[in-house]
Amino acid sequence: MILIKNWQEAKQEAYLVRKQVFIEEQGVPADMELDEFDSTAKHALAYVDSECVGTARLIALPRNIGRIGRMAVLQTYRRRGIGGQLLNALLESCKSQGIAKLELHAQLVAMPFYENFGFIAQGEMYYEAGIAHRDMILSI
Ligand SMILES: CC(C)(COP(=O)(O)OP(=O)(O)OC[C@H]1O[C@@H](n2cnc3c(N)ncnc32)[C@H](O)[C@@H]1OP(=O)(O)O)[C@@H](O)C(=O)NCCC(=O)NCCS
Repeated sequence: MILIKNWQEAKQEAYLVRKQVFIEEQGVPADMELDEFDSTAKHALAYVDSECVGTARLIALPRNIGRIGRMAVLQTYRRRGIGGQLLNALLESCKSQGIAKLELHAQLVAMPFYENFGFIAQGEMYYEAGIAHRDMILSI
C-alpha cells in the first residue's frame, strides 16, 4: 500500500527508512539527510503489513517542474516492485499539481530503475554525498 503524506505526517517513518538506507547502508553524512525541501515536499510511503518499508519525495519547483528524490526501499524488500509503486504514486501526484516535467539526481546504480519509467540521462556524471550521480529528466 502506498500513501502520500505531508512532512508532518511522514517524517517519523520516512526518516527511519532514509536513515537505514542512506546513512547506514550508503554512508551519506547524517547532517545531509534532512533538508529544507522536506517540509514542502509530498512524501510517498510504502507499507507492508503496516510497516513502512520505502519512501520517496516530490518537490515542486518553479515553472511546473518537479524533482523526485530520497527514493529508498529497505534492502530486504527490494526487487519486488515497491520502488516502482512509489514512483508511480508520485507521477500521479504530479498530474494533480500541474507538474509537466520531472528532474532527478540519479545514483548511477539506480539509473536502470528510472530508465524503466522513461527518464533520460542528461549531462556529465558528478559526485553528491560521495556517490556518483547523473541528472535524469522526464516530460509527463
Ligand atoms: C532504487 C530502489 C529505490 C529501487 O527499489 P525497488 O523496490 O528495488 O525497485 P523495483 O522492485 O520497483 O524495481 C523495478 C525495476 O527497476 C530495476 N532495478 C531496480 N533496482 C535495480 C538495480 N539495483 N540495478 C538495476 N536495475 C534495478 C529493475 O529493472 C527492476 O525490475 P526487475 O526486478 O524486474 O529486474 C532501491 O534499490 C533502493 O532503495 N536503493 C538504495 C537507495 C538508492 O540508491 N536510491 C536511489 C537514489 S537515486
